Amino acid sequence: MTSKSEAVVQEGLEGVVVTQTRLSGVDGEAGQLVIAGARVEDLAGAVPFEGVCARLWERPSVELGPARVEAFARLPGLGGALEAAEPMDALRAAVAHLPSTASAEEVTAAVAVFAAAWERRRAGKPPVAPLTGLSHAADTLRMVRGEAAPAALVQGLDTYLSTVVDHGLNASTFTARVIASTGSDLVSAVVGALGALKGPLHGGAPGPVLDMLEAVGAPERAEAWLSAELAAGRRIMGMGHRIYRVRDPRAAVLESAVVKLETAGVRTPRLVLARAVEHAAAEVLAKRHPDRPLKANVEFYTAVLLDAVGIPRGLFTPVFAVGRVAGWCAHVAEQRRTGRLIRPDSLYVGPVPG
Ligand code: COA
Repeated sequence: MTSKSEAVVQEGLEGVVVTQTRLSGVDGEAGQLVIAGARVEDLAGAVPFEGVCARLWERPSVELGPARVEAFARLPGLGGALEAAEPMDALRAAVAHLPSTASAEEVTAAVAVFAAAWERRRAGKPPVAPLTGLSHAADTLRMVRGEAAPAALVQGLDTYLSTVVDHGLNASTFTARVIASTGSDLVSAVVGALGALKGPLHGGAPGPVLDMLEAVGAPERAEAWLSAELAAGRRIMGMGHRIYRVRDPRAAVLESAVVKLETAGVRTPRLVLARAVEHAAAEVLAKRHPDRPLKANVEFYTAVLLDAVGIPRGLFTPVFAVGRVAGWCAHVAEQRRTGRLIRPDSLYVGPVPG
């Protein structure tokens, strides 16, 4: 056993570099995220989601409308996939029905169309057919709501999708790259990534953040409520991060997007409460873990923004996938270009035959 492998086992896999990427970089100490050469603050909301896809996929431009129409035509052939009670189970099963030759456009469009169709089914309504002329954010919102969404809400969702599109070698992206590295197809890689994203330690926190805001109810109750949670041994949702030692830069981007909605006249009733809870949570956590900075992560304001945009709580993780799938596609292409199998080692610590 080498000292390096001992260290990996003790500290876990974080910090171990397993690949190079030109797609996104995370600086956890400085709180910076660069996506396709631009800071997330300069990209999200300024470059439409399709433009961000084009940068990540290294294309002059990307058009997702025709692929949404194609995905919608596949709905009758999905069997019982969209009948699953859990939306991520439904999405995983539905995406698995795509042909293994599907392109990045087809897979990215299908995630939005299938997520929206699941929500419509849950609400007891028929699916809404896509429109090619709309942006991906506008059409996704339209397919979920059943009617065109005001421009401010579309801008809010577009900002969200670009903010979460890629984030280094997070668990779902790593999953996608491992699958791609075996020479398997894009659809298989995305199905695996969806399975990783589903887990509550990865893509499942925004719903619980909203539950927390509702349980706190009013700013003056925040400190007592949060202290009681910690005393009961529970974690504060939307706070803390494996990589960031400062506030997650995406929290600021999403918070600004909520403020923009407010300025545009959209009701954002949870913003004041969310800010008070974030402030109180940072203080309570600083007292409990003085040596470990635990600040707001992306999920905190995801909950506030998606709620203000009108996305139902149960659809938060699938909508995360609507954005992140474009990053997965880019990583699969990048991994393929390396032609190298990702095959990390494990350290055997079991019994040794005598
Ligand atoms: N609430 C309360 N305590 C927390 C906490 C939180 N949100 N996040 C971390 N801690 C505590 C840990 O329990 C640990 O305490 P201990 O040393 O007494 O055991 C200490 O702070 C250090 O934890 P750390 O090593 O930073 O956490 P991690 O890297 O293992 O976990 C998360 C990172 C994101 C899983 C964790 O912060 C968390 O569970 N956050 C809430 C869920 C969430 O928002 N997830 C979305 C992530 S984008």
